[in-house]
Amino acid sequence: MYLVGVTGGIAAYKTAELVRLFVREKKEVQVVMTPGAAHFVSPLTFHTLTGRPALLDQFQVSPGERVRHIDLASSARVFVIAPATANTIGKMAAGIADNLLTAVYLAARCPVVLAPSMNEQMYLHPAVQENLARLRTHGCLVIDPAEGEQACGISGKGRAPEPAQIAEFVRSALREKDYRGLRVLVTAGPTREPLDPVRFISNRSTGLMGYALARALARRGAGVALVSGPTALPCPDGAELVPVETARQMHAAVLERFAGCDLVIKAAAVADYRPSAAAEQKIKKDGAKTALELQLNPDILEELGRRKSEQILVGFAMETERAKEHAREKLRRKNLDLIVLNDLTVPGAGFGSLTNQVCIIDRKGRAEDLPMMSKESLAHQILDRIRPLLPPSRPGG
Ligand code: C5P
Repeated sequence: MYLVGVTGGIAAYKTAELVRLFVREKKEVQVVMTPGAAHFVSPLTFHTLTGRPALLDQFQVSPGERVRHIDLASSARVFVIAPATANTIGKMAAGIADNLLTAVYLAARCPVVLAPSMNEQMYLHPAVQENLARLRTHGCLVIDPAEGEQACGISGKGRAPEPAQIAEFVRSALREKDYRGLRVLVTAGPTREPLDPVRFISNRSTGLMGYALARALARRGAGVALVSGPTALPCPDGAELVPVETARQMHAAVLERFAGCDLVIKAAAVADYRPSAAAEQKIKKDGAKTALELQLNPDILEELGRRKSEQILVGFAMETERAKEHAREKLRRKNLDLIVLNDLTVPGAGFGSLTNQVCIIDRKGRAEDLPMMSKESLAHQILDRIRPLLPPSRPGG
């Protein structure tokens, strides 16, 4: 049973759509509402969508029920609270159970997913932030609210995520922990190669694909080290961030950790060249020197390919012509187990995009074209293909 908790915020209207998505996925859904939620959406809306009365009353018991909040909690596969207001978040963090929803929360042992949604000032208040941090340590999975136009008229952080996004988050939260005990190193983002103290050469990588992989791995139970060039992204929960800047720093960080790894996924866009010598002082605009001398960076993945023993190596390729042929050649030359080929010619794929379209090629040269999908979903698809190449999970890990 999917238990959906609705609290009293305007985003409650979006939860009707979320419930519909679950029902369409053939899930049995039971809605629990706070009294405040019923001011925004009628319980009848949820009753109609799920075929079950939406429950609000802690002290009412229907035939067949024994102790309502305990029965609900024990039948739940997941408890999704969307929207989660500051008030409910505060009560949950403090262990207060003064309505059906909060009582069910305390009794629940299933994964709990929260979609906080409120005015930005409220969301950023230290009390709310502290409560959310506390709920995370209690094991709640919190979906970061989006930024954008809010119902109160201002624009800011606190906007409810779209129902499809919440549904996808829930799907991945319920995934089997099939990477438990495995140690994985992921590289992500661009590298920066300094020209002088203020300038550098870099590329358009945003790190989205690598971070999505790190997040998916952590959710599936892996121990994850994320060696990342500069990005604007927060470190995924459960991953250890190792920030680096240059290709040579990435090289050192990766080699240091390689021996202890079961799997390395190299999603970083490593600069192939660096300026031969970075100027110690800022280069002046005097026109004296206009040519830039470059030097080859170490190919980290190729070196891992030479050194590897039991490790599984996965690389990325970004080609603009004869893509599959070049990717197969790269897989052989770098001694990889799998290569993920980005199709740069398709709109919505590659750098900076939230979606991606790739082809996965294995050691036997077999190529599988995947459809366009979110980088989050793609991360799981890639991990599904890698999993059979690895040893069984280590239960103690
Ligand atoms: O050879 P190319 O750069 O196209 O190969 C891409 C793959 O190799 C990516 O997985 C990338 O992270 C990795 N790579 C690396 N070190 C480099 C260049 C690329 O590890 N210097």
